[in-house]
Amino acid sequence: MSHTQIPDQMTTVVLDSYSGPEALRVEQRPVPKPGKDEVLVKVAASPINPSDLAFLGGNYGFDNPPPVVPGGEGSGTVVAVGPGAMGRYFLGKRVACLSNGQKDGIWAEYVVASTKGGVFPLNKSVSLEQGAMSVINPLTASAFLEITKEGGHKAIVLTAAASALGQMVNRLGRSEGIQVINVVRRDEQVQLLKAQGATVVLNSDDVDFDRQLHDACHEYDAHLAFDAVAGPMTGQLLKALPENSTVTVYSCLSHKAPQTNVDQIVFQGKTITGFWLGPWLYSNKNLLQILMLWRRSQKLIGTDLKSEIRARYPFQESRKAVQEYTNQMTGGKILLKPTT
Ligand SMILES: NC(=O)c1ccc[n+]([C@@H]2O[C@H](COP(=O)([O-])OP(=O)(O)OC[C@H]3O[C@@H](n4cnc5c(N)ncnc54)[C@H](OP(=O)(O)O)[C@@H]3O)[C@@H](O)[C@H]2O)c1
Repeated sequence: MSHTQIPDQMTTVVLDSYSGPEALRVEQRPVPKPGKDEVLVKVAASPINPSDLAFLGGNYGFDNPPPVVPGGEGSGTVVAVGPGAMGRYFLGKRVACLSNGQKDGIWAEYVVASTKGGVFPLNKSVSLEQGAMSVINPLTASAFLEITKEGGHKAIVLTAAASALGQMVNRLGRSEGIQVINVVRRDEQVQLLKAQGATVVLNSDDVDFDRQLHDACHEYDAHLAFDAVAGPMTGQLLKALPENSTVTVYSCLSHKAPQTNVDQIVFQGKTITGFWLGPWLYSNKNLLQILMLWRRSQKLIGTDLKSEIRARYPFQESRKAVQEYTNQMTGGKILLKPTT
């Protein structure tokens, strides 16, 4: 069932091999057809996220054989639906969509998404551009707060804290009375977070960073850290935290495996765990609970869960856009759009 005129061919961004942005090119491909419990979304925008960079380099949790269309999340309008009860509900709706890694991603004029967790209705107040960034980081920030509160923690440590996600966690933390001990790597990022109201922001480049981190963790009695950097940072966090603490690694921005001294784990009862949004959602929540989490987060997309936008590029300039984003990630998302 279709809603508007749909062309046969579309412009897509294609990754030829898992070797980074140089392997990106634009290709005309047939517009896919939605199958059972699927919808066809006319794409409006898709951000470049760190997970997309990892995907381009072959370092993400998905690895379907290239050539593949990248793009983890985005937004658009549902223009056709396959068989299945949920599809009809979505026809004509503005939605956020999420790639599950089994099919092509969102960097295309049209994308097929599953009605079972791959497509979410946008609130009227949420623009298509904000909607494009309304799944991965907003739901992860909400998940971090939920994990924090369920564990009875009053303070957490957060690395790569000047990221879009980090800023969301800070805003939610302030609303919910959770002290965030922020770790960043540049003075500009310290200023950025302090200007937004963060009270504890440490620069990992400072010579006495380890002491500052240890003191902050003990002053605020923080027993939980969310670490996006990994490598030696994971060990620095473990060492600074009190006994029986946990470091939850949720990314690998340093491109190095978490490193730690075995004493921390064996004799001090400290643990390292991992977090990935999709498995966390589906192992902790049923569909109704996911929808409730989605509704709550949609209400905050203009405030606590907002992402800044730094630039917009057409698909044809995806290589340049990825390079610009790789050179500096802080300071707002870069959106890819079918046309700008
Ligand atoms: N596991 C999950 O389910 C999940 C879900 C959502 C997000 N994430 C992760 O959360 C992190 C933030 O995502 P985002 O979209 O909010 O990012 P973003 O806004 O693009 O910002 C990325 C931040 O990471 C910093 N950074 C990059 N490399 C670094 C390094 N080696 N050491 C320290 N800092 C570094 C950047 O600083 P510069 O400006 O100095 O480069 C920037 O502040 C990413 O790692 C992402 O993969 C994971």
